Formats: sequence, C-alpha cells, structure tokens
Amino acid sequence: MKISPNNLRRTATTLLCLAIPLLFPTSSPGDPPVPPTPGKAPAPAIRWEQREVPLDAAIRQKYPETIVLVTAAHSNGPPNIITVGWSMFCSGDPVMVAIAIGKQRYSHGLIAASRSFVYCFPDAAMEKAVRYCGTHSGKNVDKFKETGLTPLKGKQVAAPLIQECPVNFECEVVQAVDAGSHTIFIGRVVAAWMAQTNTLPPRLYNLGGGQFLPLP
Ligand SMILES: Cc1cc2nc3c(=O)[nH]c(=O)nc-3n(C[C@H](O)[C@H](O)[C@H](O)COP(=O)(O)O)c2cc1C
Repeated sequence: MKISPNNLRRTATTLLCLAIPLLFPTSSPGDPPVPPTPGKAPAPAIRWEQREVPLDAAIRQKYPETIVLVTAAHSNGPPNIITVGWSMFCSGDPVMVAIAIGKQRYSHGLIAASRSFVYCFPDAAMEKAVRYCGTHSGKNVDKFKETGLTPLKGKQVAAPLIQECPVNFECEVVQAVDAGSHTIFIGRVVAAWMAQTNTLPPRLYNLGGGQFLPLP
C-alpha cells in the first residue's frame, strides 16, 4: 500500500497532538485531563514593552500563593508544624510533592532525620494558626500546644496529620535537593486524607506582606 505524503503528515500531526498532553501534562495529578484548545492559540492581547527591574519587584507579582502547613515528627519530643508557601505537586505517577524548607528552620532537621512529613491544606478559619506556625520556631515552642491544633496519627509515616486541616497527605521523603538557602524535600505521597463533608471550607492563600485571602 502506498502512503501519500499528505496522509503521512496528517498521521504524524495526529500522533503529535495525542502525545503532547501525555508528555507535558498541564493539569495536577487527580485533575480531569484538559482538552486541547481548538484552532490556533489566540495572540496575546498586549505586547508589553519590557523593562529590567529589581528582582523583588517582579517576584512580588507571584501572589496569591498556596499556603500549606507541614508537620514533622521528633524522635524524642513533640511533633512540629511549619507554614510553607514554597511547595508544589511535582509528579503524577507516583504522586509526589516538593517543599522548600530553609536550612535554618527547626523543621529542616526533623524532616531530614525522619525522612517524612505530612502536607496539610489549612482552611480560611486557620489564619491565626498559619501565622503562628510561620513566625515561631519549634526550637522554642510546642506549636500543637500553642495553636490548639490536634495531631492525629496517620497510617504510614511518623509525622501527624492536623485534624483541623480539611486535606492531609502523608509523604515519605525520596530526595533532598540542595537549593541554596533552602532544601527541596521531595516526598512520595503514601496516603491521603480528607474531611468527611460534602462542602469543603474555603482555602487560605498568601497575598504577601502578611496578608492572607480565603479562596474557594
Ligand atoms: C506565609 C508564610 C510562608 C512561609 N513559607 C516558607 C517556606 O516556603 N519555606 C520555609 O522554609 N519557611 C517558610 N516560612 C517561614 C517559616 O514558616 C518560619 O520560619 C517558621 O517559624 C519556621 O518554623 P520551625 O523553625 O519550627 O521549622 C513561611 C512563613 C510564612 C508566614
């Protein structure tokens, strides 16, 4: 059978269109797949004249930022909680999350030693606790005791879930990447927990400069 160049081109284009979303997925693990936009991509509305600026001015534009609480176990003392803005899901299969933890943080030592953590989504009502855990060190205080948050034993790792957080992921550290001031701990999600309710409360997002915003 003779294959015309046109057919060959069409087949190659179809295969490429099918492969691109698999190779470069744009959605998070657990999300339904995003269908490709039909037709040509629209041109950007404005082609801005670009000016070089100080780094911090540009970085401030990243907000709102997801806020999570991360717990870590201590071999011989109370577990700790740290507020974390620098985190993301970074693998779909197996599901993994990455958290950037400052090398000076008390949590850094705990996570490095226990090779595990729990990645928790706080809701909007937890703003005070989020601030507290982000401005006090477990070196000096027992943050579960001071915030009144409830540690709950998970199934797979030593670090506790936070009962007041509507969503909790137990994670085993598979890699620790030196990233300058911070270490990126990559954790394989080994168990996920969710509040038993039909409507989850709004999440809390960081707007920078000490401001927080509840978003559904
Ligand atoms: C909104 C917010 C976001 C933060 N994000 C991070 C972060 O991504 N990584 C980090 O190491 N510290 C972050 N911090 C700072 C720590 O939460 C803070 O230094 C904390 O007191 C450290 O606790 P620890 O010493 O008990 O580990 C953040 C603080 C706030 C308030």
